[in-house]
Amino acid sequence: MLDKIDHLGIAVDDLDSALAVYSTTLGLSVKRREVVEEQGVELAALIVGETLIELLRPLSEDTPVGRFLSKRGPGLHHVAYRVDDIEAALAALREAGARLIDEIPRRGMGGSRIAFVHPSATTGVLTELVEPPTAADAAAAE
Ligand code: CO
Repeated sequence: MLDKIDHLGIAVDDLDSALAVYSTTLGLSVKRREVVEEQGVELAALIVGETLIELLRPLSEDTPVGRFLSKRGPGLHHVAYRVDDIEAALAALREAGARLIDEIPRRGMGGSRIAFVHPSATTGVLTELVEPPTAADAAAAE
């Protein structure tokens, strides 16, 4: 069901200084930068082989990432797994009794579809499922 790690999400206070760390100090190249209103974040994605590092800056304190930052400070926020069929993956998790945050997929970076699984279902780590965008969705998101 889970194909590979799509990305690791890291919560940051300041996207420009975080980008400087990841692109200059660590030498990663930036794939895209985007505001995703549905998640209340500005995102930047950096490329590490087939995996991405996703830096997340909350658009306000009253968002999931904003609340995470005020409670725990900057750091690892979630692990995201690639799936072929997000509805089937959600159905399998529901069947297994896992607590879902998103019963229905929502829009993620670059026109992908995503859903979050509650950290209580996955040993304290917020887990995201990512179904890659179709070519048409990817084009629409440009
Ligand atoms: Co993510």
